[in-house]
Amino acid sequence: MIRVIIGTQWGDEGKGKIVDFFCQKADFAVRFHGGNNAGHTVINQYGKISLHLIPAGIFNTKCKVIIGNGVVIDPEVLVAEIETLRKVLPDFSERLFISPRCHVIMPYHKLLDRLYEEAKGNAKTGTTGRGIGPAYADKVSYNGIRFADFYDSRLYKSRLEMLLNLKNKTIEAFGEKPLDFGETYRTSMGMFRKLKPYIKEVFQPLQDAIKEKKNIIFEGAQGMFLDNDWGTYPFCTASSAVAGNIHAGSGVSPRWLTNITGVTKAYTTRVGGGPFPTELFGAVGENLRKIGGEYGATTGRPRRCGWLDLELVKFAADLNALTDMVITKLDVLNSFKTIKVCIGYTLNGRKVRYVECDANTLGKVKPIYKVMKGWNQALDRIRRFTDLPREAKDYVKYISLFTGIPVSLVSIGAERNQVLKVSRKDLL
Ligand code: IMP
Repeated sequence: MIRVIIGTQWGDEGKGKIVDFFCQKADFAVRFHGGNNAGHTVINQYGKISLHLIPAGIFNTKCKVIIGNGVVIDPEVLVAEIETLRKVLPDFSERLFISPRCHVIMPYHKLLDRLYEEAKGNAKTGTTGRGIGPAYADKVSYNGIRFADFYDSRLYKSRLEMLLNLKNKTIEAFGEKPLDFGETYRTSMGMFRKLKPYIKEVFQPLQDAIKEKKNIIFEGAQGMFLDNDWGTYPFCTASSAVAGNIHAGSGVSPRWLTNITGVTKAYTTRVGGGPFPTELFGAVGENLRKIGGEYGATTGRPRRCGWLDLELVKFAADLNALTDMVITKLDVLNSFKTIKVCIGYTLNGRKVRYVECDANTLGKVKPIYKVMKGWNQALDRIRRFTDLPREAKDYVKYISLFTGIPVSLVSIGAERNQVLKVSRKDLL
């Protein structure tokens, strides 16, 4: 089975937990885009751990984990993550693969991320400040540095010198101190040496795994609406968060996919700037934030909260051709007497689809809501979908009906065993 797991909203759908769930039986877990702007929190026998770069499959000691070429890597963050995991896990040097094609987030990328955001003032993107945009910008404009570049130190030196010259011109124009070549060289080379044992070509292991019909999980980061092409540009991230990006980002053709699983939170959140049609500003939004613990795993920023937006989820379902869906954090809605679900938008009194909007018009649409009855009770002891209160089942069934995609799992709490399997029969 080859499954890609993607977020169908603006990230933070609870993918970490679902990926961890699927990885218990996986032979390979693969990241294919993004960087340490992602934060996947996993709660298991090792405690509560937030991973930013290493796939959650690392916790399954039989699973090989791959950071594919589409990922941009901050070496300091990766080294720290490896060190944290080494304290709790048996040696995983044979199981962790980092593609030599991965682009490196350099110190100037982080600095420029901050400088651009500050200069943009109110129009800022609200990035995670991890240097993601500037690193991808360098990648596509042929000014990037890949791990492969470090092997020949003479070549690396001359490339870094040339690039740092370019970057320092911009940095100085912003009135900042230029970065020192010697220090940048030494630090980055030091980091490379620490990561070198894990930097191995991943193409053949993945090709062999496909032939041997191994169980492979691709771990999407961020969410569909942060996708650089199909998201709410320019309030988006720099990488492509759609399922098909496994191809460019890991070298595996989408032809091999057996499952394209969308993870949808039972309500909507977003961090950073940009339009958010179902955003709630009053007590209801505050309640969602508090009950759902909606603070960024990467930056700690409070997330903006709102009702479930099925116009968005349906678009994500269609664009990615989802085979199934996972609903997360259903329990966060336990105490709401009524629950609203957005089933479309109007703009100036006329119905309008997400795909017809840009960030500006999406900021002006009015959501059309369907009001549903809440279930008003705790769900934590429930272990079978059929035992959920009728209103909770109706909520899940409605999502499935609206999107046309079968829901296969529902998560009702942070623990691994709080995942309920859903059969097609359950959805009738
Ligand atoms: P960047 O990816 O750090 O450049 O940030 C661009 C936008 O994507 C900002 O609105 C971020 O808040 C958002 N973003 C990036 N990664 C994540 C994520 O993993 N979850 C939620 N939002 C994210």
